Amino acid sequence: MARKKITIAGAGNVGATAAFIAAKQQLADIVLVDIVKGLAEGKALDMAQAGPVCGFNCKITGTTDWAQTADSDIVIITSGLPRKPGMSRDDLLMKNTEIVKSVTQQIAKYSPASFVIVVCNPLDAMVNAAAIVSGFKKNKVMGMAGVLDTARFVYFISEKLSVSADDIKCFIMGGHGDDMVPLPRFATVSGKPLTELLDEKTIADIVQRTRMGGIEVVNLMGTSAYYAPAAGAVKMAEAILLDKKAILPCCAYCDKEYSVGGYFVGVPAVIGAGGVEKVIELTLNEKEKKDFNLSVQHVKELVDKVRKLC
Ligand code: LAC
Repeated sequence: MARKKITIAGAGNVGATAAFIAAKQQLADIVLVDIVKGLAEGKALDMAQAGPVCGFNCKITGTTDWAQTADSDIVIITSGLPRKPGMSRDDLLMKNTEIVKSVTQQIAKYSPASFVIVVCNPLDAMVNAAAIVSGFKKNKVMGMAGVLDTARFVYFISEKLSVSADDIKCFIMGGHGDDMVPLPRFATVSGKPLTELLDEKTIADIVQRTRMGGIEVVNLMGTSAYYAPAAGAVKMAEAILLDKKAILPCCAYCDKEYSVGGYFVGVPAVIGAGGVEKVIELTLNEKEKKDFNLSVQHVKELVDKVRKLC
């Protein structure tokens, strides 16, 4: 049986890191594609040469030629500008819509049966753009942000409680912006509600630090995070390729779900061989609903701008 094939569009920090994580997991053969000549080729060669040391032997190809991506099972879009200090994710809208549009046209041409995982910002708007341009079925297009935001939430809780992240479950919903909606009421540590383990102020501080998790990293190192975003994208690819039916928070199409009305937004979803197989509807209280709707409204405004560009 031939190995599965993952294409990663963009050989920058997120793309290259995702390629390396996927290679280490022997998840698939990998094609790294970038418009900058030599960049993807060089990184792919370097990574392939790490194979004998790390013990992986999947094929890693770097290219500027989309023909080499043909018949990919999954395409991860990392292409696009990252944030710099002082920038919001929304500041990237115009430029990254153009980039996502041209990348998605190549995906539709060369891998019309693929699943698409979008990683670039502003995340939710870019997922909607990829869906519009590709015309792919809604279950085949999704965005990685919830896995990242949730990982940050889990990390801060694990640090505070000195317990393994493995024992912590929680969800974040809404758009991947400052108005994302972490849900402490649904967070548990080995089955015990977080709200019984930490006081309100501590939880509020963790929620706030989670919301600002991206900018905290940008302010420290001058550009966007990439280790955790890349790990999040590979986790979603793995859930599809191994048909894990993992419940992951991700940007998925919602129509009647949460009364969103036909947009891709951050929700918990079952990810397996069918892509987004099901959106999980949590029973939100009034405050959570209000916060979610506010965040979704923000996504809708960006998507309306995106539509004009696609
Ligand atoms: C972050 C960027 C990648 O949250 O959106 O770090």
